[in-house]
Amino acid sequence: MTSRIIGSIYIGAVMGLLASLAAAQPGVPGVMRTAWGDPDLQGAWNHGTITPLERPAEHAGRERLTDEEVAALNRASETRATSGRRSSLTAQQDVSLAYNQFWWDRGISTGRTSLLTDPSDGRLPLRTTQAEALADTPEGQRVRLARRGNAPAHGPEDMDLGDRCLVYRPVPITSSGYNNHVHILQSPGYVVIFQEQIHDVRVIPVVDRPQLPEHVRQWLGVSRGRWEGETLVVETDNFYHQADYLGSSIGRHVVERLTRVADDAIHYEFTVDDPSVWVRPWTGMVPWRPADGPLFEYACHEGNYGMTNLLTSSRAVEREAVLAGQGAEALRDDAPTVADADDERSVLDGVYTASQSSRGAREFSRRCSSCHSSAEFSGGRFRIRWVGETVGDLFVTVSTLMPEANPGSLSQEAYASLVAYLLDLNGYPTGDGQLPSDLVVLSGLEIVANSR
Ligand code: HEC
Repeated sequence: MTSRIIGSIYIGAVMGLLASLAAAQPGVPGVMRTAWGDPDLQGAWNHGTITPLERPAEHAGRERLTDEEVAALNRASETRATSGRRSSLTAQQDVSLAYNQFWWDRGISTGRTSLLTDPSDGRLPLRTTQAEALADTPEGQRVRLARRGNAPAHGPEDMDLGDRCLVYRPVPITSSGYNNHVHILQSPGYVVIFQEQIHDVRVIPVVDRPQLPEHVRQWLGVSRGRWEGETLVVETDNFYHQADYLGSSIGRHVVERLTRVADDAIHYEFTVDDPSVWVRPWTGMVPWRPADGPLFEYACHEGNYGMTNLLTSSRAVEREAVLAGQGAEALRDDAPTVADADDERSVLDGVYTASQSSRGAREFSRRCSSCHSSAEFSGGRFRIRWVGETVGDLFVTVSTLMPEANPGSLSQEAYASLVAYLLDLNGYPTGDGQLPSDLVVLSGLEIVANSR
């Protein structure tokens, strides 16, 4: 015990000596160095700032704020969502606030009116007509509406990378309402930038290494670094098309410059060059401050249930549209009416064939039985879940959500045969005609209780 304490004191003394030796090495005064002589950027850093990327109109023509303005902005940021303010809100307003001050951590003003330093008016350069035209295609508009929940999403690819828990902080690194932290680690030839949100890690070689081939693309691009004096210069290309930054293209080229200007400050500068989107490159700057480490795990759960629910409701919206539009037309001839209840078709009317059910059974053992037993879909449980719904509802569930690992991967006919098999399991009679995969027809077939 005692020897261990002495041991750690001894190690502590050696570390202290090494640290002072390191600090005494040549370079920019006050800049720390690693044991192998590179400028030392390591540690936990906070890049949170309330300074907007672009200069607001009210500050046009002014680059800097006064000390009083900075103090007032910092105070406002601290008190924006305090619990005191919450107590004066309605329940709806309170819920809309999402978080209280404990969670928010917006950061402070840089003292400048915009993060952008170039162009000198602090505004993003004009977007090219080509970029405007692309955003305006029907497909571009559809995806924009889907991301806001105002149109059905075709699939998970339509959704925001944040909703999918994939990427929150594209390159370059800028701040948001909270979790504005990175942890930098270095080893000879490598710098690692670990982003708190959503624990993305960029491993940046600073040895001479060729860029990867153009077709190898990554969410955060592929980075290569080099030292220019005291500055780490990181060039990044090969971005994946969905991980855009303010509507950038896959052709964006980002240069980041990190300089430890003092023990307690990194100067982080970024230049974005994407000629198909902006008529000229633009540059911004964020000062980074030391943070109390270590960074704890940040976990994103939005995608666990949210994605399934978003897609299920998208399919329901589409189905309603079909039924309300050309669907109503198609339904008119044989649509049941209340007065004509005898004609209402249900699963008691022989709506599938025996051979279709056998095909469904084979499909089930191949594609479904790894997770489900057939008993799960017959008898009481099936009745409780599905009686009162339509065959269309059952078809939509199976064809859009199953098999769980690869939803929608079977043909429409295969899904129809699976539904036929599920009906067979529950003793509904076979008939002469096959169950179609047409949703309009299926939505007219009610699942009623049978006498079994
Ligand atoms: C990898 C596992 C897996 C496979 C394979 C799979 N399922 Fe599922 N299935 C699930 C899970 C998990 C649920 C529950 C989903 C939920 O409600 O969150 C489910 C739910 C269902 C439901 C809804 C049950 C209810 O009562 O609400 C149906 C119907 C269904 N599956 C049919 C199928 C069919 C048909 C296949 C084959 C094409 C299939 N599943 C393949 C995992 C799987």
